[in-house]
Amino acid sequence: MSNKMWGGRFESEPAAIMAEINASIDFDQKLYRQDIAASKAHAGMLADQGIISAADAAAIAKGLDAVLAEIEGGTFAFSRALEDIHMNVESRLKTLVGEAAGRLHTARSRNDQVATDFKLFVRDTIDGIDALLADYQQALVEKALAHADTVMPGFTHLQTAQPVTFGHHLLAYVEMAGRDRGRFADARARLNECPLGSAALAGTSFPLDRHKTAAALGFSRPTANSLDAVSDRDFVLETLSAAAIASVHLSRFAEEIVIWTSPLVGFLKLTDAFTTGSSIMPQKRNPDAAELVRAKTGRVCGALTALLMVMKGLPLAYQKDMQEDKEGAMDALAALELSLVAMAGMVRDMTPDTVRMRAAAGSGYATATDLADWLVRVLGMPFRDAHHVTGRIVQAAEKAGVDLSDLPLAAMQAVEPRITAAVFDVLTVDSAVKSRSSYGGTAPDNVRAQAQGWLKRLAGD
Ligand code: ARG
Repeated sequence: MSNKMWGGRFESEPAAIMAEINASIDFDQKLYRQDIAASKAHAGMLADQGIISAADAAAIAKGLDAVLAEIEGGTFAFSRALEDIHMNVESRLKTLVGEAAGRLHTARSRNDQVATDFKLFVRDTIDGIDALLADYQQALVEKALAHADTVMPGFTHLQTAQPVTFGHHLLAYVEMAGRDRGRFADARARLNECPLGSAALAGTSFPLDRHKTAAALGFSRPTANSLDAVSDRDFVLETLSAAAIASVHLSRFAEEIVIWTSPLVGFLKLTDAFTTGSSIMPQKRNPDAAELVRAKTGRVCGALTALLMVMKGLPLAYQKDMQEDKEGAMDALAALELSLVAMAGMVRDMTPDTVRMRAAAGSGYATATDLADWLVRVLGMPFRDAHHVTGRIVQAAEKAGVDLSDLPLAAMQAVEPRITAAVFDVLTVDSAVKSRSSYGGTAPDNVRAQAQGWLKRLAGD
């Protein structure tokens, strides 16, 4: 007989390449904790239902604890010939407890087993990512509060647009991370149905209590359709979608860190803790961590795309293709975890160059919209006309080589005679940010209130 788990009707060994292509143990060994927990829940339920004896269930539970200790102690010998974590654990259990081990697989298949294990794994990972996202938010909010008054240019098209505060900019990422957490929470709630007891695809004739195993493993309920339970991986896809979006958010901020720490811009400084040097150019301070966060987004989005392609066109029910769900997803979620820790670290580490930021906010005619708004408010001009007049004043300032706040009143009056000296009140960057007090706007008081609100919410998490 070849494989002792399924080799009854086989006469000869599989080709060597089969062990290579078929085995998933190299990566699914990460599921050992979940696999053992699910087996213990299953065995306990089988005994409660009178399907196996209490003595067998006790022997199985004890043996599984021993296997767990061996794996965590690093003494467990994983075998590729045994394909995956499920058969590795069961085989070792057989050696440890003998005959009882063979009863564990009653009313169960690796198909419902692997779906259960991976759901548990993804659920644990989501919980970890949520905590990391919360810490990243905390770092951003604290920095935002410290910089509620720090004026910088806001950009659109990467062109100077209107002055904003650095605090406001940071809080934008807090909002994104908040929605990311919401997406993970949604994925978690939807995945939290237990496949165990669906068996291979059709359910089982044994009198299981699936509600009991579901509850024992912290699931909200058992899955309602056995074919669906063993053949869908939308819980992985949904989690990877949330991860891909979260990674894209991190990547955008990482890109800004790269741009802002460039000497060309010089808005931000990272300490030696988050920069590296060059082996040839002694002056260099490279923002490697930010670049790698930006790059790791590729893996996360890649894993999502890869699994979408694996699942596309798979007929019901379980297909071996689905074994390909784990490696990419585990890698992608680990990359996101790493990125979150690195980003939180960089946020805590970064110092804005407030002088440079303020100078940049004041150049590039960033208060042009404030001038147009003044024309509307004070002179009663329609906004479109005000926009046109302001455009001509910007043109005059550009020709004179000065910023708006330094353009003589006479030059403005040459364009629009009704303009008075009061206009200069709105042309400074401080008045510009202060005036944007609409809900969600960049006014420092708003930023402080938003940051305080987030601190409260985060403390309640
Ligand atoms: N290693 C497999 C996987 O990850 C376990 C399920 C195998 N089931 C089967 N009928 N061959 O998907």
